[in-house]
Amino acid sequence: MSVKFAVIPCAGHGTRFLPITKGVPKEMCPIIDKPTLDYIVEECIAGGIEEFVIIVSEGKDDIKKYYSLDEAYEKELRSLGKDKYADLIHKIGTKAKFHYVTQHELLGLGHAVLQAKEVVGNENFVVCCGDDICLYENKTPVAQLIEAFEANGENTVVGGQTVAHENINKYGSMDVKRQVADRTYELKGIVEKPDPEVAPSDLASLGKWVFNSKIFDELEKTPRGKGGEIQLTDAIASLMKKEPVYFYDFVGKRYDCGDKLGYLTAIIDVALKRDDLKEGVKAHIKSLNLD
Ligand code: UTP
Repeated sequence: MSVKFAVIPCAGHGTRFLPITKGVPKEMCPIIDKPTLDYIVEECIAGGIEEFVIIVSEGKDDIKKYYSLDEAYEKELRSLGKDKYADLIHKIGTKAKFHYVTQHELLGLGHAVLQAKEVVGNENFVVCCGDDICLYENKTPVAQLIEAFEANGENTVVGGQTVAHENINKYGSMDVKRQVADRTYELKGIVEKPDPEVAPSDLASLGKWVFNSKIFDELEKTPRGKGGEIQLTDAIASLMKKEPVYFYDFVGKRYDCGDKLGYLTAIIDVALKRDDLKEGVKAHIKSLNLD
């Protein structure tokens, strides 16, 4: 397996989701009965990832607690004959290896990724934002990106999709050099949040990347950019001068769970996919008699 690690930045302020993020990290906000973060972790595991580096800010202990074994609770559940639940919580703590690194100063996504350097070392790794989930039919978006990474000499792959032209100003817009395969493009640049009139394309970066370890050298040299933050995009732009960087237009439905409407939509769509909930949810929506 060419990619063993996933780095998941979860240290952000989550201001768009206040007031809940005053007490609870947005990555731990539940989508029905699992934290948002766990959907990302499971997508990565399905894509072959074995170890996670979770970037946390001070005080975000809930994440660590969730992925730790709780032998006393397991034992209690078993003594009550609730083995099914004991097995369920045991699996959470054993499904992968988790490392935690604290980002002491919140200097942006690029800075968050750089904090993983000591754990990841010279390995290749996936980065998934801790507040972006995807629903998929067959192959997970992470698995699709890893395949594109392997097919293109283990060079950086930026994951994303085509967005509506008027929405490109919310994302990084890909400046394409050439299409190299189905859904795969070599890039000559990325323009962050451009006005639609000047955007090089409607191919948008959507919170998932695959890197080789050279990105760490670029991040170390990247000065603070927009908003005083160390921007991951600036480091990718600098890497692009030395080696090819690709974009892969992944298949799957992506939800920005750091945004209230995105989060709510994710909850509804997850419920509609679950056998235990979909009929009840459909009946409820029908009873609302919406136009
Ligand atoms: P966002 O762009 O959503 O930033 O980060 P944010 O600060 O969390 O949210 P708002 O804009 O204030 O509402 C994308 C991902 O990167 C992480 C976040 O936790 C989120 O999962 N992040 C961001 C870090 O880990 N460290 C940072 O310094 C910034």
